[in-house]
Amino acid sequence: MTTILHIDTSARRIDNDVPVFNSISKALAAYFMDKWTTLNNEDKVIYRDLGLNPPEFISQDWIAAVFTPDAQKTDKQKALLTLSDTLIDEVDQADIIVISSPMYNYGMPAVLKAWYDQVVRIDKTFTFDLARGDFPLEPIMSGKKLILISSSGEFGFETGGIREKMSHLAPHVETVSKYLGAEEFYEIRSEYQEFADERHEKSLNDAYSGIEALVKQLA
Ligand SMILES: Cc1cc2nc3c(=O)[nH]c(=O)nc-3n(C[C@H](O)[C@H](O)[C@H](O)COP(=O)(O)O)c2cc1C
Repeated sequence: MTTILHIDTSARRIDNDVPVFNSISKALAAYFMDKWTTLNNEDKVIYRDLGLNPPEFISQDWIAAVFTPDAQKTDKQKALLTLSDTLIDEVDQADIIVISSPMYNYGMPAVLKAWYDQVVRIDKTFTFDLARGDFPLEPIMSGKKLILISSSGEFGFETGGIREKMSHLAPHVETVSKYLGAEEFYEIRSEYQEFADERHEKSLNDAYSGIEALVKQLA
């Protein structure tokens, strides 16, 4: 049995009365999950909609709690880390992490960054050892697959694309997900939303076809 952690992050829903207001990234991720669970109906799915239920931002007290040895943590510090503990446990259970994300201001939405800040945690998801020289961080978890399903208003964010250097969504997600044990990275991308022309239609159709191919490849 495979466990999939499905995380949506758009501020938009997919059940609006006006369909054009619906989140493209969430709809694509829902399609992935539908195709996946049809083929693998024994699998366990853990779902979070960070757009509708944003995680708390970390704070000075949160950081102090993280760096306080377990035996010395106060009840208040343990309580402060409850959400982080729960989110890390969900990541730990997952074999596959599916993240759907809009591009906001050329990067990930704040809610997704808040989630990463809660889950990438010393001695839980990575270790830190200066004996390793210039690269002291090492992930604790391993063997996970990370699938990023993204939607953007503009286009050309891929390697070699006209906005490659403005792309801080996929590169950021791929880099930081290493510390969640993600060793394989896949991206499904829909672009041109703001142009609302035939290029957008093609990009969206390609994203749906890409999902079908990826589900077959990974199933
Ligand atoms: C606050 C905000 C910031 C955005 N910033 C960008 C951007 O930097 N680059 C881009 O290509 N599109 C940008 N867009 C457009 C979204 O990426 C696009 O509408 C996408 O489809 C949103 O994802 P969703 O459909 O899943 O909600 C932005 C949209 C919003 C609401």
